[in-house]
Amino acid sequence: MKETLEETGNILGIDFGTTNSKMAYMIMDEPTVIQNSEGKIMTPSVVYFDRNEKAIAGEQAKQHIILHPNRTVYSIKRHMGTEYRKRIGKAKYPPEYIAAHILRKLAKDAESETGRKFKNAVISVPANYSDGQRQAIKDASEIAGLKVLRMINEPTAAALAYGYKEDEDRKILIYDFGGGTFDVSILTVGKGFFDVDATSGEHRLGGDDIDERIIDFICKRIKKERKIDVKKDIALYQSLKEMAEEAKIKLSTTEKTMINLPFIGRDTKHPPFEMEITRTKFEELIVDLIEKTAQPITQALDDAGLDKSEIDDVILVGGTTKMPLVKDFVKRFFDKEPSSRIDPYEAVALGTAIAGTRESKEKSKTDVSDVVSMSLGILTSDGIISKILDRNTKVPITRKKPYTNSESFISEVMVEVYQGEGLYPWECEHLGEFWISIEPKPIFANDIDVSFNIGEEFGILNVTAMDRDSGSKRSVKLKASGRLSKREKNKWMKTMLSFEEAELYILNKLTRDRVTLNVNPDTKISDLKTELKKLGILCEEEGTSLFLKNKELGEKLLVRDINYDVGDTIEIGKKEKVENQTIASPDDKSPKRRGRK
Ligand SMILES: Nc1ncnc2c1ncn2[C@@H]1O[C@H](COP(=O)(O)OP(=O)(O)OP(=O)(O)O)[C@@H](O)[C@H]1O
Ligand SMILES: [Mg+2]
Repeated sequence: MKETLEETGNILGIDFGTTNSKMAYMIMDEPTVIQNSEGKIMTPSVVYFDRNEKAIAGEQAKQHIILHPNRTVYSIKRHMGTEYRKRIGKAKYPPEYIAAHILRKLAKDAESETGRKFKNAVISVPANYSDGQRQAIKDASEIAGLKVLRMINEPTAAALAYGYKEDEDRKILIYDFGGGTFDVSILTVGKGFFDVDATSGEHRLGGDDIDERIIDFICKRIKKERKIDVKKDIALYQSLKEMAEEAKIKLSTTEKTMINLPFIGRDTKHPPFEMEITRTKFEELIVDLIEKTAQPITQALDDAGLDKSEIDDVILVGGTTKMPLVKDFVKRFFDKEPSSRIDPYEAVALGTAIAGTRESKEKSKTDVSDVVSMSLGILTSDGIISKILDRNTKVPITRKKPYTNSESFISEVMVEVYQGEGLYPWECEHLGEFWISIEPKPIFANDIDVSFNIGEEFGILNVTAMDRDSGSKRSVKLKASGRLSKREKNKWMKTMLSFEEAELYILNKLTRDRVTLNVNPDTKISDLKTELKKLGILCEEEGTSLFLKNKELGEKLLVRDINYDVGDTIEIGKKEKVENQTIASPDDKSPKRRGRK
């Protein structure tokens, strides 16, 4: 039975991870993970660019890490919302474009796996992502052709996956230790209601760091025994990286494992290199990394005003929590057994799918309140930041604070907005500034109200300043910084499309014959027709195009330059109607593709 969009919402839930990404959707009110085209739940967040700048994402890309380390990008999530550009050959790619390839692969795989069209998505992000980073994820999704209906904090998503059927009031703590980030969140769950009390984390701590420790350990041994600097040999280093991760995963279930590097020492008198790593040794190497998670937990407990004994459930999320050392650490810290009832890998993706349902239905069983990820305030004349919205304040929110003039008889004051936890401007991120005119008065005599509002529109802070005496008022919308400009975003959208193969239906108006063709969405209709004629599929009679019967279309025919959307139907009829026509997909009124002359 086919479900309609209204029934389930064709919304793809995406857990975009540093190392792996996962996806899920709702089927019959149940969140379900979706396998990729390789039949796996996890899609490596890796992108490979070939010499023609064509990208491949996922498992296939991961295989290039060893062969073409300079053309392969991993852990791009760590660079979202920064000025970082990946140089590959002559090209310089922004993180948004690289991430877009991963998201595109997920969406395409989800479509072929489920037979649904996914144009809308709910994406999870680390709880401590700044607005700039969130915007970058949103831009990446748009470049990938996905509209982000909602962005949800990863721990909130995990709680949704766990708490969906909760009917008892509980304080839960989500301990999410993944490949690149560690997040901790404290939530109140009950009667289908979710409330984020506090979030904290370490956005550069994860399984990758654990792998690094193993690599270092092995490298030191090789250097000592063989006098070879593995880190100088990129290909060797990459294969060691894979091996280190494998060893780590093995050590979650076994007491010891072997590292074999037969290619080291092949040219020497030495036997191939091998060494044993025991779990005890491994744990000794990394215990400090695990213990580093204590500080953010304490911070989150402090922010929530809770003692650890007040936490009812501790939930483990993320691949790294599969390690016995992590489980033991959490158990010791809270003096209770943590829960991993739902696979730590899947929980976040399942939660995004559930959050998607909430977007598609007006009234939902589940209520999720999100919070301001970093404090927001303005710079005052004494050089410190006065916070107007504290970290972890629930949104949507409007809050007003009174200020005054620090000099006599001035006619203008500047409102400078900062984001961050620090007291001083250099410890925070400058979001923007504007001037407001005030009535010239003696020092401390003006009443200036500054209000901050964060509404439903994601990542936008509305700042209003008003001088009560003169009634002078100014409002500005501050967007997260570090964003791609509109022009850049469009450029990357086009680049993305130019490598795309779209499935296009061609309908002959007269005969109602229909054929399916794989084309590039940038292909011109005239070129397509020429190609179809060449293949003997189409003939032209007196201004009318007809398909020739009995001709089958080649499977993977690629024609360049048609500006149609994926899955569009184009009609071939009268010649003049066909040429230079631009068709938008029925549910997308805005002409996303560039118009051709
Ligand atoms: N059995 C295991 N034992 C130890 N580590 C594991 C195990 N399975 C997977 N991992 C590690 O878990 C990490 C991936 O976890 P996960 O997929 O949850 O992270 P992610 O979502 O990509 O990252 P993040 O949430 O930080 O963005 C990798 O570092 C991987 O090596
Ligand atoms: Mg994760």
